[in-house]
Amino acid sequence: MKERILVTGGTGYIGSHTVVELQKSGYEVVIIDNLSNSRADVVDSIEKISGIRPAFEVLDCLDYEGLDKLFTKYVGIKAIIHFAASKAVGESVEKPLLYYRNNLESLINLLDLMPKHKVDGIVFSSSCTVYGQPDELPVTEHAPIKKAESPYGNTKQICEEIVRDVVTSGAPVNAVLLRYFNPIGAHPTALIGELPNGVPQNLIPYLTQTAIGIREQLSVFGDDYNTPDGSCIRDFINVVDLAKAHVIAIDRILTKKQKEQVEVFNIGTGRGLSVLELINAFETATGVKLNYKIVGRRAGDIEQVWADPTIANNVLGWRAEETIEDTLLSAWNWQLKLREKGIQ
Ligand code: UD1
Repeated sequence: MKERILVTGGTGYIGSHTVVELQKSGYEVVIIDNLSNSRADVVDSIEKISGIRPAFEVLDCLDYEGLDKLFTKYVGIKAIIHFAASKAVGESVEKPLLYYRNNLESLINLLDLMPKHKVDGIVFSSSCTVYGQPDELPVTEHAPIKKAESPYGNTKQICEEIVRDVVTSGAPVNAVLLRYFNPIGAHPTALIGELPNGVPQNLIPYLTQTAIGIREQLSVFGDDYNTPDGSCIRDFINVVDLAKAHVIAIDRILTKKQKEQVEVFNIGTGRGLSVLELINAFETATGVKLNYKIVGRRAGDIEQVWADPTIANNVLGWRAEETIEDTLLSAWNWQLKLREKGIQ
């Protein structure tokens, strides 16, 4: 058994897939989650996939005392992967304080407790949202950080700065900031996947819910952008590929391979796909016809963004491997499984 890793938000979408990959690599995982956007039975599903039940505690990262006790209970935690955060862009505009409190204070609490409990490093879930609409595409890690379009986006920028400032202060903290592009898909077993609360805001859960008949029609937000087919372009990254990047980041921290105390990587495929191309790919991959219509633009959307993942490819030795067809099929199989279980 390798080292003990704390995964905050470990029953969530990306967190659960990452727990499975960590376990596959031999790490011992402790999950904490406040279950605000996930279910406790995800732990059972993780166990079904990996054969190992991770330790799990219901705990909010805002609870400083609780975190302190957790590190004492699970002695020897070597690194943290910090997923736990609020992530709905629209909600963050309505409730900015909730977002600043949740996302900033959680990170602050963890960083504060790391030296005391001799935790070597932290992997932080950042986002391509920090680039806004990049001037050059594909976007590299050296692109300027643009003024955030939403409080949610701003929390990602500020969290990155908090990590850098703590490291600059001389704290014994090593960090990897992973800037995700658009994570989609589900585990090939269809035992874990994305479980949005209420009406989905993101494209893929809305799309699969429409395909299965929960929603009547998918609205495509805008076909008058300056792109080949007029719809927005994104870099859709398979969630298992994304999960694997976290394991490599943890290995890198724990084997002291980092060149700098804070490293940042784009985690994307390097390919941009438009919303309409994605719909086409879904129909081809699944054979299911999708009911959609073009509507007006959604406020705050970026026109086009996709990653230059060269640094992650070369430095981490990580690469997105899954095809978009397999990824979309996995999202569809997950939606079918949810219906089977009577969840959605
Ligand atoms: C946004 C954030 C990202 C965040 C993610 C998680 C920005 C720039 N991006 O991604 O940082 O991690 O949310 O919540 O803030 N679309 C439709 N119809 C729909 C839903 C979406 O056409 O019903 C389109 C959108 O207009 C967009 C694309 O699909 O062009 C992707 O949208 P979405 O899945 O919401 O992700 P982002 O907005 O790219």
